Amino acid sequence: MAITSKRLRESWLKFYESKGHVNVGAVSLIGDGTTGVMFNVAGMQPLMPYLLGKPHPLGKRLCNVQGCVRTVDIESVGDESHFTFFEMMGNWSLGDYFKKEKTAWTYELLTKVYGLDGKKLCSTVFEGNESAPRDEETASLLKGLGIAEDHIFYLPKSDNWWELEGTVGTPCGPDNEWFYPIDPENPAPVFPDDYVEIGNDVYMQYRKTEEGYVPLENKNVDTGFGLDRMLLFLNGLNDGYKTDLFAGAIAKLESLTGKKYDADDGARKAMRIVADHVRTTVMLIGDVNGILPSNTGAGYILRRLMRRAIRYCRQLGVHPGETMKEVAAEFIDEVYGEAYPLLVEKKAYILEEIAKEAERFEAMLEKGMAEFEKCVAGIERKNAFMAQKDPAYVKETTIGGKQAFRLYDTYGFPIEFTTELAEERGYGVDRAGFDEAFREHQEKSRGDLKAGEAKGGLESHSEQAVKYHTATHLLNAALKAVLSPEVNQKGSNITDERMRFDFNFSRAMTPEEVKAVEDLVNEKIREDIPVVYKEMSLEEARAEHFVGVFDSKYGDVVKTYSIGEFSKEMCGGPHVTRTGELGHFKIVKEQSSSAGVRRIKAILE
Ligand code: ALA
Repeated sequence: MAITSKRLRESWLKFYESKGHVNVGAVSLIGDGTTGVMFNVAGMQPLMPYLLGKPHPLGKRLCNVQGCVRTVDIESVGDESHFTFFEMMGNWSLGDYFKKEKTAWTYELLTKVYGLDGKKLCSTVFEGNESAPRDEETASLLKGLGIAEDHIFYLPKSDNWWELEGTVGTPCGPDNEWFYPIDPENPAPVFPDDYVEIGNDVYMQYRKTEEGYVPLENKNVDTGFGLDRMLLFLNGLNDGYKTDLFAGAIAKLESLTGKKYDADDGARKAMRIVADHVRTTVMLIGDVNGILPSNTGAGYILRRLMRRAIRYCRQLGVHPGETMKEVAAEFIDEVYGEAYPLLVEKKAYILEEIAKEAERFEAMLEKGMAEFEKCVAGIERKNAFMAQKDPAYVKETTIGGKQAFRLYDTYGFPIEFTTELAEERGYGVDRAGFDEAFREHQEKSRGDLKAGEAKGGLESHSEQAVKYHTATHLLNAALKAVLSPEVNQKGSNITDERMRFDFNFSRAMTPEEVKAVEDLVNEKIREDIPVVYKEMSLEEARAEHFVGVFDSKYGDVVKTYSIGEFSKEMCGGPHVTRTGELGHFKIVKEQSSSAGVRRIKAILE
């Protein structure tokens, strides 16, 4: 069925209001600091105290449509499905109704209101583990509603358990996820490949503690359906930038650039990046607790988004400040102004701040790009020279940390920005060297700036990236155990598909050493060791032999993660709860990164 974003928002609220829910409205996108999560990443986040038992002034049945910002995948934005802002349609039972009503209502909403065919729906439930039982109750309710037995799947914690990763003291529980065929006309769709997840009902009945999951007195329901995703899917589209939320922005970009979104792959990617990043910029500056671009914390993430959009405007051949202002105005006037009236009120201010940041960065961007090109040319010259002298010479493929720091400090290039530029040219960046230069600079110039957040340690991460993050700690410890205690992390880079880990070591590892490291990591995964988070003073952490590459940035109180006695690291997280969640660890490559530095690429399967 064709439906507009406005109608979808309204119909969600109307349906749950008809079931006795009160619309609590949306709140600030900026995290309140209680969970250590920088932005609101889920509709439940602002409701946490009530899910933990505090009475809500508006009752036990609530609903809303809440904006969320998830920035872990900034570099993936540009394809058809990654966004840094989205709206989550939610509803909650605070110790009121539970599985029986919730399964029935979700089914009713999907089939009666949104016209989906109940026979085509698939649903997944929690298969159970030592923390919580197999969710037979939900499965049997689903069957009662008419969902065929072979359309119900029991899945492990990695799939059917929801919690705010990297936090403790927060509510969580098993979830029931809803799926529909990507192509509803497909006569024999296979689960899960031919299906899209449309949303989930979380049965929040536990509190996550350092010791494990403790049952809550209240049995809550926490529902989340992504509005953007649902809109796409209900309208039979497969490109997130084709919905009415983005159509105006893309049309504007087409008219300003004279390029065609559908006909030009390069322009399409750039338009998506500009549109997505401008939308999030509008939402963050226009928020009730609006922020501005800066060099720390949430402001730094905003700066990264804005500077990335500026670069892509230039790639499209248009004036960044003017273009971003026009796209921002389009979002405010035509798309979000009605649902978010504060954006209309703050419009002039938002546009002005966009123009200011564009001006600030543009003044430096060209010179910075020239400087970047000089770095690359320098490395290429050296490689050519060395290769002539020694045919076995391993080419240098890393931009130095000091050079990256100069690009940051003098030309305002966020480190992730430089990394992206480098990757486009087949180069890496010495991240540890950058951090070192950053730290030295900080210590020299001012002792007061705690820039730890800038590294993104406080951001929320995708589930897969979180797993890789924990695997990084296991790998670090295994390398120390197998090769030498002197081995230290020199950098790492994680995507949803793989991890990369740089460490100091003067020669190639032997195949036996690679296997020993791999085996040791897998042994620790099999032992299913809890990953324990603790805050302590820097002195305590040192005394307890926690390792930390970026320690001084976290200030006096540091965040630590230990995996038994095997791994102890200072780190902002987030991590999985137990190593057993990681699956199987495999090293796919061990190679030289730069002089004295080796690089491992590994995957979790
Ligand atoms: N909290 C759940 C989610 O974010 C509903 O998907």
